[in-house]
Amino acid sequence: MSEDTAPVLTIDGPSGAGKGAVSARVADALGWRVLDSGAVYRAVALAALDRDIAAEQREALIELSRDLPLEFRPGRDGIDVLLDGEPVGDRLRTEPVSVMASKVAAIPEVREALLDLQRGCRRAPGLVADGRDMGTVVFPDAPVKVFLEASVEERARRRYNQLKEKGEPVILARLFRDMQERDRRDRERSVAPTVPASDAIVIDSTVMGLDEVVATILERVRRCLDLPPERT
Ligand code: DC
Repeated sequence: MSEDTAPVLTIDGPSGAGKGAVSARVADALGWRVLDSGAVYRAVALAALDRDIAAEQREALIELSRDLPLEFRPGRDGIDVLLDGEPVGDRLRTEPVSVMASKVAAIPEVREALLDLQRGCRRAPGLVADGRDMGTVVFPDAPVKVFLEASVEERARRRYNQLKEKGEPVILARLFRDMQERDRRDRERSVAPTVPASDAIVIDSTVMGLDEVVATILERVRRCLDLPPERT
């Protein structure tokens, strides 16, 4: 199987819908790799912040994304992200990086520049691609596409619990309002908006547990790709 024809399962959806956890579980069951495309945009953001490039410096951001010194390597807890040859660890998940990532992700030339890097992650036996535009733009030929959503109330509640667990100060009402605002920006942006591909199955994880979502997706992959049950 060549790289270009290895099967891809795309899992798109808004933040907090559970894409990361679902992707990891499904990939593990199938023995496939995961592409966390959010980490790619976060890496551009982190590299920009490290180099003192501001969100307004469009040309510099575009150039940076064309020449991004980014690598993904299998690590102890999944995939390690290396920027400039150094593992970035939790530096990708800070608030300044999140804010910058959403700004760089809105620049069409940045998105274009990152296409090859993302498509290069397609390898046998298969790839689970997690993001916003995996099924619509990056892997439009993927044989199985999922759009994972959950109500904004539920997503804000999950995020609230995560932050509380980390001991970070957080106000639920504010989190809810920010999430609504980000959702609107993501859905309505002109380039690669967060919408389901026309051939995606839409799964609402508001009332479904993680196990049920994973089982539903694995069953769909197995059926579509004619994989033996024991592999899933
Ligand atoms: O999923 P995440 O929070 O790690 O994504 C970080 C940012 O990148 C977020 O603003 C959405 C954006 N993103 C995107 O525009 N397209 C993708 N395929 C993945 C993420």
